[in-house]
Amino acid sequence: MAGDPSGFLAFFCGKAQDGGIRRFALSSFLPSQKPFKFIAMSNNSASMPRLLAVANQKGGVGKTTTAINLSTALCAVGKKVLLIDLDPQGNATTGLGVKRSEIQKSIYDVLFDEAEVTEVAVPTKVRGLSVVPSSIHLAGAEIELVTEQYREYRLRNAIRKPLPYDYVIVDCPPSLNLLTLNAFVGVESLIVPLQCEFYALEGLSHLTKTIRRVRKSLNPDLDIQGIVLTMVDRRNNLSAQVAEDVRKFFGDKVYQTHIPRNVRLSEAPSYGLPAIIYDMKSPGAQAYIQLAKEVIGREREIFEQQRVA
Ligand SMILES: Nc1ncnc2c1ncn2[C@@H]1O[C@H](COP(=O)(O)OP(=O)(O)O)[C@@H](O)[C@H]1O
Ligand SMILES: [Mg+2]
Repeated sequence: MAGDPSGFLAFFCGKAQDGGIRRFALSSFLPSQKPFKFIAMSNNSASMPRLLAVANQKGGVGKTTTAINLSTALCAVGKKVLLIDLDPQGNATTGLGVKRSEIQKSIYDVLFDEAEVTEVAVPTKVRGLSVVPSSIHLAGAEIELVTEQYREYRLRNAIRKPLPYDYVIVDCPPSLNLLTLNAFVGVESLIVPLQCEFYALEGLSHLTKTIRRVRKSLNPDLDIQGIVLTMVDRRNNLSAQVAEDVRKFFGDKVYQTHIPRNVRLSEAPSYGLPAIIYDMKSPGAQAYIQLAKEVIGREREIFEQQRVA
């Protein structure tokens, strides 16, 4: 593991009692110096969490990396986060150091009404972050769900209730199948990682069509919180051109922060750690910290709008 500058790892892992470290960690994540009641409150008792999913039907675009590092960054500002691994590949589970062989119950049991998310959640090395693991059974769940009643509402019923978390973040599988549909019906908002490559915009229009359809019938409130450009390589002209096109088309929906291609982000999961802990100073980890600030800023706007309405 690449060092622990400024004791940040100790902060995350709950080893340090040092108030100085804590203040450093918190202030580095806060979006501004203004009092920020929304993010300052931590959810120790059960209340309605904010529900987000990280989605894109393409594989390998950075969904899991985004879900893990964003969740970690939210925990760094005192939030309690539940990451739900809805992908049968289970990369979010193993990337957070949870061994698949040790899993007793998984999201599969939740989808089939055999367990509550709180029973299945496993604590991780990140203080405040728990994961609902994926399991190999999830691969067959889609077919099994087809004959079940309310098959699109399974996840919604499990998470739209008071829970001891501030955020529930769902890591979606790389397809627009019934599992992903469960995520779209269950959550309030989507974060869409987009890799800057030739077919990116085409894939995105497919995704937005699906979102429109879900909105019409199953979940009228579903929204895209933002699109994050991932694996950006500034030296690559195509990457720059696609980034420009996406920004032209989607405007403010695209986060200012983009995630660079960075080897530390791909190394971290093999240590069972988020990159933000594995090597906090790496450009990839720093980018995710910046992204988290933007996400928190947008969450604050949504919170204010809901308060006024
Ligand atoms: N910005 C990045 N730079 C370098 N490697 C990355 C980056 N983001 C993700 N990766 C690596 O690319 C692969 C796919 O990323 P992942 O987050 O698993 O995508 P998805 O969940 O969309 O399939 C993984 O091996 C991951 O470690
Ligand atoms: Mg994934």
